[in-house]
Amino acid sequence: MDVYEAIKNRRSHRLYKPDAISREVLARVIEAGLWAPSGTNLQPWEITVMSGSIRDQFVSLCAKSIDHVMPLLKKLFSEKQQKFTAQFFKNLGGAPVVIAVTVWREEDPFYRLNMIQSGAALMQNLLLAAEAEGLGTCWMTGVLYVENELLSFLGKEDRQLLAITPIGYPGKTPPVVPRKDREVRWLGF
Ligand SMILES: Cc1cc2nc3c(=O)[nH]c(=O)nc-3n(C[C@H](O)[C@H](O)[C@H](O)COP(=O)(O)O)c2cc1C
Repeated sequence: MDVYEAIKNRRSHRLYKPDAISREVLARVIEAGLWAPSGTNLQPWEITVMSGSIRDQFVSLCAKSIDHVMPLLKKLFSEKQQKFTAQFFKNLGGAPVVIAVTVWREEDPFYRLNMIQSGAALMQNLLLAAEAEGLGTCWMTGVLYVENELLSFLGKEDRQLLAITPIGYPGKTPPVVPRKDREVRWLGF
């Protein structure tokens, strides 16, 4: 798949089929993530891929974040959307696999930003590679409300949890979320 096609077709998926994903396919997606650029080539990340009962235990911890997310949803979303999102946080759309990306924890704001940007590059690579494999994903930071519990479950207490994504074959086609007309400046042309 052409990279532009992957970028334009990728959506945030919140409903998945329970169908298993082969290890080969997952390994290709992970490999694409690891080819992301990183500040001073530190590659300051770890990826945890979870399936089966480990996935279920992780998801039940993620579900605890909904109480923190709900006030924002109430401000932004209709009641139907609130219910749907609450359910999504409870079971991550039924995705059979969940991926967590952690980065090195840094207190210094400059280094911290570098870690976060490097991890975000990895994350986007993962999402685009998944799209090319016909898989759906949803970049999620809402669960960071319970970051400490999730890190402790992962055995990565000294790291920062960048984000997680469920990954699986799409259960339905999500709507296209239109992009806003934000400022793009062309200087010196
Ligand atoms: C940094 C970041 C955090 C996000 N966190 C969440 C989240 O916690 N829960 C969720 O359902 N979607 C989350 N999303 C997905 C966005 O809601 C989604 O990308 C946006 O609405 C545009 O839709 P699209 O991805 O289908 O184009 C996140 C996306 C990004 C980049």
